[in-house]
Amino acid sequence: MGAHQYHQPLHPHSHKPSSSKNPGCFLSKAVCAWLACGFLSLALLHLLCCSPAGNQRPAFSPLLSYINNTYSFVSSVPGAGGAKSCNYSEGQWVWAPGHARRYNGSQCDVKESHDCIRNGRPDTGYLDWRWQPAGGPSSCPLPAFDAGAFLSAVRGKHVAFIGDSMARNQAQSLVCLLSAAFPSRLLRRDEEKKHTFWRYAFPARDVTVSFYWTPFLVRATGKAEDESVPYSHVHLDQPGDRWAADAGTIDVAVLAAGHWLLNGAIYYSGGEVVGAHNAPAGLNYTGVGYARPLRMVYRKAVERLSSSESDGRPRTLVLATFSPAHFDGSPIDSPTACTRMEPYREGEKEVAWICKEVRDIVYDEAEAARARGASATRVEVLDVTKLATMRPDGHPGVYMNRDPFKHGVPDKIYSDCLHFCLPGPVDTFNEILLQILRKRR
Ligand SMILES: *[C@@H]1O[C@H](CO)[C@@H](O)[C@H](O)[C@H]1NC(C)=O
Ligand SMILES: *[C@@H]1O[C@H](CO)[C@@H](O)[C@H](O)[C@H]1NC(C)=O
Ligand SMILES: *[C@@H]1O[C@H](CO)[C@@H](O)[C@H](O)[C@H]1NC(C)=O
Ligand SMILES: *[C@@H]1O[C@H](CO)[C@@H](O)[C@H](O)[C@H]1NC(C)=O
Repeated sequence: MGAHQYHQPLHPHSHKPSSSKNPGCFLSKAVCAWLACGFLSLALLHLLCCSPAGNQRPAFSPLLSYINNTYSFVSSVPGAGGAKSCNYSEGQWVWAPGHARRYNGSQCDVKESHDCIRNGRPDTGYLDWRWQPAGGPSSCPLPAFDAGAFLSAVRGKHVAFIGDSMARNQAQSLVCLLSAAFPSRLLRRDEEKKHTFWRYAFPARDVTVSFYWTPFLVRATGKAEDESVPYSHVHLDQPGDRWAADAGTIDVAVLAAGHWLLNGAIYYSGGEVVGAHNAPAGLNYTGVGYARPLRMVYRKAVERLSSSESDGRPRTLVLATFSPAHFDGSPIDSPTACTRMEPYREGEKEVAWICKEVRDIVYDEAEAARARGASATRVEVLDVTKLATMRPDGHPGVYMNRDPFKHGVPDKIYSDCLHFCLPGPVDTFNEILLQILRKRR
């Protein structure tokens, strides 16, 4: 499928987990972070997104014995505002058997390459962890996902996920979490490009959930639409057509982008090229890096979603931060890429600086949007960077393919070390999203 053209001869020894800040890296820090955060994940995006188509465990802690996959916390959290002072972005993964076994991915129509259980992934330990925000379970509990509470929080509303394949991963997780408890109906789907647009209804609370594939948030042609084309052409001054057309119907928007901007594109404003990032040198475009275009696309999307206030609709915008890949130096076609079976321990892995930079841009844009003072629009950050960084074990890896070892272990086989298995750690993104939506303004 052409993804191999992005495979570079990377450092073969850097796969081992490392406790240093600069994991197993003989390249410059910048290049390393680039590899960790952007480059290889984009090879995967190329492979996956445009296409239509061990048992060591931490000692059992009595403290955790009362936490299981029931909804034990929910009742202890006062309806709204209970977790007001909680910051979910820092914390650690703690062992909680069965916590993430909440649904059967095959029954909620997840992308086949994320249906790890169906695809034969034999280990299930990655489903046995929950995120404990800093502060501890008494002052900052993160309750298990409660579908009824979620639907009540967005009763009568349209929840739209807009962005790249991580936005889709979270959107599918939400549909699965909700439809495990409530009847759902597929309302619309782009049948030709099945994974680029869809919408589900949850009639019990008159809720709809949509996904709009828009990897740059704004209008993009070329590779963003067709993987056989080498570059994306990105119009920084025009919001993505499809979601912008529906903007007036959207009550809650979850925006997630970053990977494709790190990868680069040719950027336009007013129909003129303003520069490029990672474009071929022969084209002589001015290099603009990734940070400025990233700021601009978030700003454009937020503006578009705030500007339809004239319709009198109070709107909540949730800006999700960057969720990094875990190839950690392995080639995308290595059978041993992301084969870890448990999360990193506290201190074992630092958030790469480039991921921090992308995260900071999202925080800045959220702050800037609040400062612009669109009163009817509430802007929140869903900061998943740290918790995602700590979960190398939660990706499909070679189990993006069905029964990958049925004919023995191949020398080369594609691994997905970017998206998360469904069910899997991405369900936690929605546990936090629920708390954000329940929080009093
Ligand atoms: C989990 O909750 C169920 C139902 O409330 C209960 O029967 C079970 O004992 C709990 N498990 C643990 C480990 O506390
Ligand atoms: C939450 O913690 C993160 C990381 O420490 C910090 O960047 C962010 O500003 C905090 N958020 C709030 C609302 O305090
Ligand atoms: C998930 O659902 C599918 C289809 O209904 C079924 O064949 C499969 O056995 C289920 N898997 C698990 C782990 O329950
Ligand atoms: C890019 O610049 C080089 C050196 O100035 C020149 O030879 C080449 O023709 C330019 N390419 C384009 C497409 O303008």
